[in-house]
Amino acid sequence: MTTRPYIVGNWKMHGTRAMLAEARAIDRAAERLLKVEVAIAPPFTLIHATRKEATLIAIGAQDCHPAEGGAHTGDVSAAMIKDAGAGFTIVGHSERRADHGESNALVKSKAHAVIDAGMNVIVCVGEIEAERDAGKAESVVTRQLKGSLPEGEDVAVNVTVAYEPVWAIGTGRTPTPDDVAAMHRHIRGVLNKFYGDAGAEVRILYGGSVKPENAAELLCADEVGGALVGGASLTAESFLGIIMAAAEGERD
Ligand code: 13P
Repeated sequence: MTTRPYIVGNWKMHGTRAMLAEARAIDRAAERLLKVEVAIAPPFTLIHATRKEATLIAIGAQDCHPAEGGAHTGDVSAAMIKDAGAGFTIVGHSERRADHGESNALVKSKAHAVIDAGMNVIVCVGEIEAERDAGKAESVVTRQLKGSLPEGEDVAVNVTVAYEPVWAIGTGRTPTPDDVAAMHRHIRGVLNKFYGDAGAEVRILYGGSVKPENAAELLCADEVGGALVGGASLTAESFLGIIMAAAEGERD
């Protein structure tokens, strides 16, 4: 498996074809940054076009429906996403859990659909601020992981976990690198129990207000295998700042 840092841009509900220029610029620069694995998850409507514009970086989706197909107006299946050119799909983002009432069980069924379609999956977990204040962050994340992760040691190789404390998303606030490291070590322990030996191979990304200015300190925290980036992934300039920070950290 690769040990390169994995930097994923989640464009959320941003982007029309005008944004393809950003994807192109990121892709061109990624060519020079071989120490980092770079990916973008644009909205569904841009997956195919982004795949054509950007040939080096990975392209993924932000969600999918768990069923293979059928009468589900407005939904998109994992197979359709793969067909559009994606290689991975994010599931269980806190915005979907909050805005669409997604349960752990639903997230797990989506994760299995993604893997069955032949893609990798990024499973998101993270506590809200009140849960952290109450000292429950680790137990909340444990419950989310156990309920949302796809099962089977053989699928671990296709799984990435993203730890995104909800209170850090889009707020400019982040946990300290020590708090990030503590949570990532905790997640590693849960993964080792859940997947056995294969749990050691699962990458754990940090997400929540990652910017070029704070990327280096967050990325070098223990057990942090990369970042899931929202706002700062929307322009090539800021996203490349994060990618370069990740590349610097890889220098001996
Ligand atoms: P921000 O980087 O905008 O805080 O978003 C993080 C996120 O939710 C990525 O999935």
